[in-house]
Amino acid sequence: MCGIVGYIGSKQALPILIKGLHRLEYRGYDSAGVAILDGGLKLYKTKGKVSHLENFVKDKNTKGTIGIAHTRWATHGEPNNINAHPHFSRSKNLAIIHNGIIENYASLKEELIKRGYTFTSDTDTEVLIHLIEDIKISEKVELEEAVRIALSQVVGAYAIVIISEDEPDTLIGARKGSPLVIGIGNGDFYIASDATPIAEYTKDVVYLNDKEIVIIKRDKELKIRTIENKDKTPYIQKLELNLSALEKEGFDHFMLKEIYEQPHSILDSMRGRLNVKEGSIRLGGISDYEQKMANAKRIIIVACGTSWHAGLVGEYLFEDLARIPVEVEYASEFRYRNPIINEDDIVIAISQSGETADTLAAIELAKSKGATIIGICNVVGSSIARATHAGSFTHAGPEIGVASTKAFTAQVTILTLMALRFAQMKGTIEKSRFYQLINELEAIPEKVKETLSIEVQIKELARMFTYTRNFLYLGRGYNFPVALEGALKLKEISYIHAEGYPAAEMKHGPIALIDREMPIVVIATYRGAYEKVISNIQEIKARKGKIIAIVTKGDKTVKELADYVIEIPETEEMLVPLLATIPLQLLSYHIAVMRDCNVDQPRNLAKSVTVE
Ligand code: M6R
Repeated sequence: MCGIVGYIGSKQALPILIKGLHRLEYRGYDSAGVAILDGGLKLYKTKGKVSHLENFVKDKNTKGTIGIAHTRWATHGEPNNINAHPHFSRSKNLAIIHNGIIENYASLKEELIKRGYTFTSDTDTEVLIHLIEDIKISEKVELEEAVRIALSQVVGAYAIVIISEDEPDTLIGARKGSPLVIGIGNGDFYIASDATPIAEYTKDVVYLNDKEIVIIKRDKELKIRTIENKDKTPYIQKLELNLSALEKEGFDHFMLKEIYEQPHSILDSMRGRLNVKEGSIRLGGISDYEQKMANAKRIIIVACGTSWHAGLVGEYLFEDLARIPVEVEYASEFRYRNPIINEDDIVIAISQSGETADTLAAIELAKSKGATIIGICNVVGSSIARATHAGSFTHAGPEIGVASTKAFTAQVTILTLMALRFAQMKGTIEKSRFYQLINELEAIPEKVKETLSIEVQIKELARMFTYTRNFLYLGRGYNFPVALEGALKLKEISYIHAEGYPAAEMKHGPIALIDREMPIVVIATYRGAYEKVISNIQEIKARKGKIIAIVTKGDKTVKELADYVIEIPETEEMLVPLLATIPLQLLSYHIAVMRDCNVDQPRNLAKSVTVE
């Protein structure tokens, strides 16, 4: 939530900052702003997207070589020009950008008001910059020390960058709970919420740790101090980020591009891990822990949103194949409900961004109780990836569309590999069955490719249901999480109310919603509870609901009952989520496009949810 970017060097800062904001726009897009030192501190900000800001500053002729910029997802104060960042201090000598929430802002603000400060915005951020300036003046300290003292009084999460008119060759950044990466170029420095605004300029990056402050001075070495005032040596890492992954490459939207990338992203998540010839699965990142995981008395999976749906597939896989009891928890509930966590528990945290605040807090809680924490993350260097004891990256490549697509299938792929590996280690699977499953898993990328060829048919279907107000999604067994995921995709990008349900639960309530206006997407693939799902379809038909069925290629029975059918290639029951999700992603995508919704940046949402 909120994207921040800063630059100091010999180049003109504005174009670098605006381009950086475009890359970070997935993190928030209700207002944007920039502050540049160019003779004095120039500040421009507007409500709306980064493109509005870009137009607004076009003729401003801002030539400065140091600046900061921000794209906002509102927490404190509605999205408007005043609440947009950067925010000035009282003297207007300092400006700040901030990602996160200052939880004790109200008490800090009260103190500052008593000291004569007035506030122009409703934000918690403005409180922080006034506090910093107040400390700087009253305690007669350097800016970097004032920042340190102020942050030691702050409760909450932040990534901040500060620029000062009095120190035209310095940027100061700090983080706690929200990410910050510094890029070290040739005579210049970049600082941002993630590496995407940096990647085209340099591969040398430093990921700032929690409670660290970075002092970036033109033509000088980076300096890092902790809030407790200890010096730290910057740890420089090499960035591996393919720039083309940050472009739409001819697709109308990132979401569509990412849907089409799935044959590759699934393959990439298996690459070097699955060896069908040898009959082996090697997950290097967890090799030191796999024995412990395989023998665990219990695995707890924590995640949010789509990643939670992947976790649910994981539960079925681990229990089915490796006979390990699993609990799947919403991280936001887990962290506050005093859960029982034992030292021999394994907690698997699943997160695309690796920055989700609730998931991170759930990890910290489980860690404090002595559990072993394993991550399944997409973003290398992310906070969650660094907070875990070990883990497996999904290697799906950057996911920019706010609606998660390729990250989900990559997460399910990793969970499948883990479950198969533990089953093999524990001997809970016959050798021949193990071979059958890994052969079928290897064939999945090709089958995903085949599944994608139904896009034309889905588009037609989307046309018929563009203005429908409600949808139901039903599935049983492995297809229940798919139903949940299909419903989430539709609501988040098309704003149509949709509910996912276990098909058999329909008769305990949702059946009352069914009439001839109600479309019901039923995932009715072969095996598992196929016959039972057919009975559920009959129940819907008897009440005149419109049935859209996802079926196995060649299916005749459901075809006769359903109003519309979408065929997917046949596969093992436990691998169906990797295929059945694809038509549901495409259906949501096309309905949203036909409703003229902003597919990649749906209203009120942000890609990485770094506030609770
Ligand atoms: O980055 P994470 O996987 O931790 O994010 C979790 C959710 O915020 C995310 O999956 C969200 O539900 C997506 N917008 C769904 O498409």
